[in-house]
Amino acid sequence: MRHPHTNLATASSSNPRSRELRGNDKTVSIGSRKRTTKTRELIENCYRTVLETSSSAIMLLSPDSIILGWNRSAEAISGWITNEVLGRSYVELFVPKEARAPFMMKLAQVTSGKEVRGLKIPLQARTGSRTMLSWNISRVLGTHGNLIGLMAIGSPVIPDTGIEEEFRLAYTQLLTEARRAEKVAEAERCRISRELHDEFGQTLTGLKFDLSWFSKKLSQAPAPTDSTHLLNKIQAMSGSVDALLESLHATVAALRPAMLDDLGLVPALECLAATFQLRTGVQCALDVAPDVSSLELPSETSTALFRVAQELLTNVMRHAAASQVRMRLCRSVGHVTLEVTDNGKGIPNERATLPHSFGLRGMHERASLLGGHFHIAGSSRAGTTACLSLPIAGYGAP
Ligand SMILES: Nc1ncnc2c1ncn2[C@@H]1O[C@H](COP(=O)(O)OP(=O)(O)O)[C@@H](O)[C@H]1O
Ligand SMILES: [Mg+2]
Repeated sequence: MRHPHTNLATASSSNPRSRELRGNDKTVSIGSRKRTTKTRELIENCYRTVLETSSSAIMLLSPDSIILGWNRSAEAISGWITNEVLGRSYVELFVPKEARAPFMMKLAQVTSGKEVRGLKIPLQARTGSRTMLSWNISRVLGTHGNLIGLMAIGSPVIPDTGIEEEFRLAYTQLLTEARRAEKVAEAERCRISRELHDEFGQTLTGLKFDLSWFSKKLSQAPAPTDSTHLLNKIQAMSGSVDALLESLHATVAALRPAMLDDLGLVPALECLAATFQLRTGVQCALDVAPDVSSLELPSETSTALFRVAQELLTNVMRHAAASQVRMRLCRSVGHVTLEVTDNGKGIPNERATLPHSFGLRGMHERASLLGGHFHIAGSSRAGTTACLSLPIAGYGAP
């Protein structure tokens, strides 16, 4: 510590004797004056080393904030050298204007005997940059109890990055959980679809055969008197079974498009486009870039692409009043992208940018679960374009 008072290092307590006791009492009992001086020098050297090597800014101030001495860290943090600041006001040189009054108030409190702990006041360096310091300030008394000055120790406040890290971890855990839940849900859909197909499909098909057997029998001679009535009834029942079978197939396909597993993404999308066109009369084209067909996508990626295509086509059917839809599947560096464009009335801007409804939210969630992006935009003249882009590990530049 470079300061004009050589006894500072041994007298920084509010109790004038507390620091002295350890060194003095021992040495007095030894009884040699020479050894007392040596021990004191040793202790002073220790204190000086501690002060000089501390990473905190340590300074001795007068009650009205005149700098009487400081250590190397204070020099480093402030950007001023010792000779430039000795005898000048710390508050005027280093404390930002808005913090001067509170700082001076605390100095007055310390002077009157009250210690200050953890006072957060920034130090404004020579360059203008500010370092937030947490100050502990206490009185420094001489051997006779006289006030030498105020010892101010300012430790840099380290920003709490722990909270950020905790958020990051929690978000990663949430994503992992959501991904797991999505996988479980997909497996469950798969199971239900199989059960429905096997259980209901077979029973209904059996029923349909029985009905046609009855129908044949009744048509054969000799026919009962009311056979026409019975035949009409059977035909109506057969029609109901047909309708049920059709709706069962649609449900099974919606729960888990078997083709996605059996044939892969591209044929499943082709089938989706063809079914959409047949059902709605809206022209639906599918372009697949040649280098996409050969990609081996993980099942969760192709499922997400298929589900989003399904939802986007449903939206076109329900909201767009379009006459044409185009689906494009292509590949860029490390990504596979599905783009669906219609020439309808265009999604309103507020719906696209603040997706509160389940369909759009679901598509955003699917994308972020897999580390990808979903974007949708529309204009009343150009229709709507939606784009899902998902990362494909291990596929760099095409
Ligand atoms: N292709 C589209 N063309 C025009 N409007 C659309 C289109 N897709 C979505 N929208 C609008 O965005 C809204 C949100 O869509 P979505 O989240 O799928 O919910 P939902 O289909 O259940 O209404 C729709 O209600 C509709 O107003
Ligand atoms: Mg929808």
